[in-house]
Amino acid sequence: MKNTDEKLLSEINKLRKEKNAVILAHNYQPGPIQDLADLTGDSLELSRKARDTDAEVIVFCGVRFMAETAAILNPGKIVILPEPDAGCPMADMITSKDAKQIKSEFPGVPLVTYVNSNADVKAESTVCCTSANSIKVVNSFTDAEEVYMAPDQNLAKYTAKYTKKKIHHWNGYCPVHHNLTEKHVLDAKTKYPDAIFIAHPECRPEVLDLADGVFSTSGMIKYVSESEGSLFIIGTEMGLIHTLKKRNPHKEFVPLHDSLICPDMKKITLEKILASLEQLRPRITVPENIRKRAELALDRMLEI
Ligand code: 13P
Ligand code: SF4
Repeated sequence: MKNTDEKLLSEINKLRKEKNAVILAHNYQPGPIQDLADLTGDSLELSRKARDTDAEVIVFCGVRFMAETAAILNPGKIVILPEPDAGCPMADMITSKDAKQIKSEFPGVPLVTYVNSNADVKAESTVCCTSANSIKVVNSFTDAEEVYMAPDQNLAKYTAKYTKKKIHHWNGYCPVHHNLTEKHVLDAKTKYPDAIFIAHPECRPEVLDLADGVFSTSGMIKYVSESEGSLFIIGTEMGLIHTLKKRNPHKEFVPLHDSLICPDMKKITLEKILASLEQLRPRITVPENIRKRAELALDRMLEI
């Protein structure tokens, strides 16, 4: 570690104690940020951790929808996103007006929104889901024969394989995962014939069909630790490889493709974390009328 990083880290450590702050980081964050975080995880784990913390301040190292989720679940707490421009292009592919339109076109059909959506879209939803629980959430509607999923078409198509319900979906996608093709997988498998290939459900169906396992980011961490395999091709954002390597020093990991970098996830830096702790901003807040309705959709998910 460089001297400047060490200095930044010691200042961050001092301030996080003084301000009673918890630092949460998503599995795609740069390695040094995952290492300094109090807790790391996938979207579902981070939602639970955000809900259950006693800290007065939550510093969210991830993207806006994740910090918004923390703010929705913690109306009394200060929630900070060290870089306010860290967004999610998929979340921006659907608006609350679109969600209202879906509800009028599909009356009575539950609207299941991926947590990768903005707060006002969550507020229009019946329930939220993550990549770790979409199948469970959809199947929890025992009386419904149809469900509408938004915004990710790939998560919807993946979930549709594990339910008898008819799944309608919005046509959003994650540019990082949607960019992966069958050819990328076939090339990687030719190069590493003995490797195990695991993929995130945000990948296209033809990519997932070639996978040995499909998991959320934390699902991948669990799978790799329990697997007897020694070489893994990783079909998700490469920030995850930091944790995979750290927890499994004797196993090897290769990203499915060099393009697997989410630029928004990389906008947070140690300098920005320190500045945000000093100033307790930029804060993420959600208007109360939206927050209350979005909280219902998140609570329903967390109860399932
Ligand atoms: P996970 O919930 O699997 O960590 O995924 C979050 C995400 O943004 C995937 O692109
Ligand atoms: Fe959004 Fe994709 Fe980045 Fe996840 S990896 S935050 S879905 S753009």
